Amino acid sequence: PRELVIAMDGPAGAGKSTLAKIVARRLGYLYVDTGAMYRALALKALRLGIAETDREALAAMGATTEVRLERTADGGNRVLLDGEDVTAEIRSPAVSAIVSRVSAVPELRALMIEQQRAMARSGGVVMDGRDIGSYVLPDADLKFFITASLQERARRRQLQLRAEGHQAELGQVEAEIARRDEQDMNKGAHSLMQLPESIVIDTTGKEIEEVVAEILGHCRRA
Ligand code: C5P
Repeated sequence: PRELVIAMDGPAGAGKSTLAKIVARRLGYLYVDTGAMYRALALKALRLGIAETDREALAAMGATTEVRLERTADGGNRVLLDGEDVTAEIRSPAVSAIVSRVSAVPELRALMIEQQRAMARSGGVVMDGRDIGSYVLPDADLKFFITASLQERARRRQLQLRAEGHQAELGQVEAEIARRDEQDMNKGAHSLMQLPESIVIDTTGKEIEEVVAEILGHCRRA
């Protein structure tokens, strides 16, 4: 059968990247983590001491920066920033704190979106982000909106942070996610939003396998 283009959007911590990666692996598709691309840019800004509010400097930085995604053996993404592997470093709380603002710079988005579209051109892709179904790949065969309650998303993010060696209080993680939601829902054409054609999946209280089966069911029917 024809290889599908699948968009997966949703708020931070809803389980999108976990699900997208598994679904891509099951289908033999390429998984593309677009958030990781913006995180790499945010990391570079941090390193250069460029403020997340300095649009001009950020745009100039983007023009001389190379962000590349590579497929890892387990079907995930390795993130290369100017050739350096920054896959682990881009998950730091410092990056999470500024990435939404950095990713709002139109010049940076234009550069990343061009690459994202190129990666989806021949189909067989599961792309995870915020504006994939609405803006990056409006013609996607399937558009999922993956969500979960704020409390559950904060709990999951805290576990993930711990596994990566970062300690954080639940209340603090919840506040950080709520702030990012707010910013992510107010980015004009690139806002996180549920589309009329979105298949909404609430992962609150569900096992990963259960949700994977649900998503694969939709893929089979498409
Ligand atoms: O998915 P993740 O939480 O790693 O994304 C980090 C941030 O990058 C998001 O909070 C959002 O502000 C931004 N982003 C975006 N558009 C995308 C993917 C991520 O603006 N397609």
